[in-house]
Amino acid sequence: MPDVQIRIPGMPKEYPVVIESGLLSRIAPQFKPFEGRKVVIITDENVAPLYAEKVMAGLEAAGARPILRILPAGETTKCMEQLERIYDFLLSGGITRTDALLALGGGVIGDLTGYACATYLRGIRFIQVPTTLLAQVDSSVGGKVAINHPRGKNLLGAFYQPELVLIDTDTLNTLDQRQVGAGLGEVIKYGCILDAALFEQIEACGSRQFLAPLYPEIVARCIELKGQVVYEDPYDRGLRMILNFGHTLAHAIENAAGYGEILHGEAVCIGMVAAAAWGARLGVTPPEIESRIRQVLTAYALPTEVPAGLTAEKLFPSLALDKKASGKDIRIVCLEAIGRSRTVPVPAARLKEFMAKLL
Ligand SMILES: NC(=O)c1ccc[n+]([C@@H]2O[C@H](COP(=O)([O-])OP(=O)(O)OC[C@H]3O[C@@H](n4cnc5c(N)ncnc54)[C@H](O)[C@@H]3O)[C@@H](O)[C@H]2O)c1
Repeated sequence: MPDVQIRIPGMPKEYPVVIESGLLSRIAPQFKPFEGRKVVIITDENVAPLYAEKVMAGLEAAGARPILRILPAGETTKCMEQLERIYDFLLSGGITRTDALLALGGGVIGDLTGYACATYLRGIRFIQVPTTLLAQVDSSVGGKVAINHPRGKNLLGAFYQPELVLIDTDTLNTLDQRQVGAGLGEVIKYGCILDAALFEQIEACGSRQFLAPLYPEIVARCIELKGQVVYEDPYDRGLRMILNFGHTLAHAIENAAGYGEILHGEAVCIGMVAAAAWGARLGVTPPEIESRIRQVLTAYALPTEVPAGLTAEKLFPSLALDKKASGKDIRIVCLEAIGRSRTVPVPAARLKEFMAKLL
C-alpha cells in the first residue's frame, strides 16, 4: 500500500502520509505517538456519524484520550466565530501544547482545524484525516491553513504543517458524486501540469468506475507531486503558482456565480479548458491539448463550458481580484505539453479579448 513521506524545508523531520483503502479499520498503530495525550477530533455533522467512532476507537486502542467536537458542515464553518469556539473548547478542556487536534473531514475542517493548531498556544500538534478527494489530493498536504473573512476566502491563515496525514480512500465511497467530481478535477490538473503518465492513466481508465479501484495509487501520486512543488516553494513565492492551472477563470466563475453554486473543482475543470485555449492563442500550448483535456473531462462527467448566463462582463471584473494579477498583466498558467507547465504574463486587455471569444 502506498506510504508517502513528505519533506518540507525548515521542518525538523519529514511527516508521513499513510494512504490505504480500509485504513480507518486498522488505524490504532498510527496513533502510538499520541499515547497518553488528549486528541481533540474536530469533524462535521456529516462525517461524524460515518467515521468518528472508528477514529475514537483507534485512538483509545493506542492509549490516547480522544475528545470529539462536531461542527456544522459547509464553507461557512471556516469562520472566526467557529474558530473562537474551538479556542474556548480547548482552553476549558485544559488542552496543552503536547496534546493534538485531529481534523476529520474535508478541506473546510482541515483548514479550520489547521489554523486553530497554528495559533492555539503558538502551535500544537496537528493530525489530518481527510475524507474528501479534494482534501486527500490537495488541501491536507502543503501546510496552507486558513479561515474566511467576510471580505474574502482564506484571508486569515498561516503555513503550518501537520505531523501525520492518514488517508483511507474507502471514505470516498460515502462521498456525494458531485464532490468526488470536484476532486477528480484537481487530479486531472496534476496530470496536466506535472505528470503526463498520470494524465494518460486517467485517459486510459476512461470513467470514474474504472478509476475508483486505483484511488490509493492515484492519491499517492498526487500527493507526491504536490509534495515536490511544496518542497521547492513552501511559502508560495513562485513554482507553487503552477498549481493554479485553470484557476484564473475558475475564480472569476466562482465569484460571478456566487460561492457554492458551482464547486471549486468544477470551476477549475472549465478553467483548464479555457487555459489550454488561451495557451494555444499565445503560442505556448499545442492546439490539440484543449480537445484532449475536454475529452477526458467529459468522460469523467465533469463540466467544460462556462455556465449559461455568465457573460464576459460578469466574469471580467473578478479577474482583477485574482491573486496572480500584477500591474496590467495577469499571470496565467499555460501548458507547454501535457505534464509540463509554466506561467505566462498576459496583458489584461488581451485576456478580456480571449474571454469574450470563449462565451
Ligand atoms: N489548504 C489548502 O491548500 C486548500 C486547497 C484546496 C482547497 N482548500 C479548501 O478546502 C475547502 C473545500 O474542501 P472540500 O471540497 O473537501 O469541502 P468540504 O470540507 O465542505 O466537504 C464537502 C462536503 O462533503 C462532506 N463530506 C466530507 N467527507 C465526506 C465523506 N467521506 N462522506 C460523505 N460526506 C463527506 C462534508 O460534510 C461537506 O458537506 C475550501 O474551503 C477550500 O478553500 C484548501
